[in-house]
Amino acid sequence: MLVAGNWKSNKSFNEAREFAHAFSQLPGAPEGVEVMVAPPAPYLAAMGADSLPFRLGSQNVSATGPGAQTGEFTAEMLAGCGVQDVIVGHSERRDGHGDDDARVADKVNRVLDAGLRVVFCCGESLLDRQGDVHFDKVLRQLESGILHLPAEAMVNVVVAYEPIWAIGTGLTATAEQAQEMHAAIRGWLTEAYDAEVARAIPLLYGGSCKPANADELFACPDVDGGLIGGASLEPSTFHALVEAAGRAVGNREEANV
Ligand code: PGA
Repeated sequence: MLVAGNWKSNKSFNEAREFAHAFSQLPGAPEGVEVMVAPPAPYLAAMGADSLPFRLGSQNVSATGPGAQTGEFTAEMLAGCGVQDVIVGHSERRDGHGDDDARVADKVNRVLDAGLRVVFCCGESLLDRQGDVHFDKVLRQLESGILHLPAEAMVNVVVAYEPIWAIGTGLTATAEQAQEMHAAIRGWLTEAYDAEVARAIPLLYGGSCKPANADELFACPDVDGGLIGGASLEPSTFHALVEAAGRAVGNREEANV
């Protein structure tokens, strides 16, 4: 299970450091649960990756290498700052910041080439869902974003399914809606690669995931954690999600004995 926080453009630098300190005072992640937090980019180096109680993530990366690219930051630069995971293809970047399918695929490659793990986001709009093209939409995003990768690269890929209509809206996909899309993604991965690769890739759910609905979502057999926006901003709320993931791990182990 992976519980990943995406702070987006929130928090001052001091608040970011206070969060890390407060979170480190809470019980450590349960066995089988990884925790990641992606603060705003200007804070990354100064967060002190080595002493953080979570993996350090970036919300973005340049699609290019080093050189004359004013304002961009490369995957190698992130690696040098202790970043381990990079979110790519978030709907807020696809829709508002020009990250089209081709650029998203370039970013995926840059992240993997730098030896980092990519959290690849996909998801449909409300219109797509109403038009009953949500499966097509998500599977097409996977096709253009990651199908070109060799099987060996897939150990560094996490997929996050984020229905756009559920992001920051308070609307959550039902556990059934999340499970059926996650099962479709797992099925697509099985066809594109094989069952072993597909099983090993964490599939995160994102979109108004919070302590009140996390147990139900994490209990879905193909939901392996969450990409959390709003509920990642406060240490004890975020920690409650880490504990929910721990319960889900425990229940899966019980079911397997
Ligand atoms: P939310 O955001 O949890 O605030 O809905 C999720 C995301 O965009 O990663």
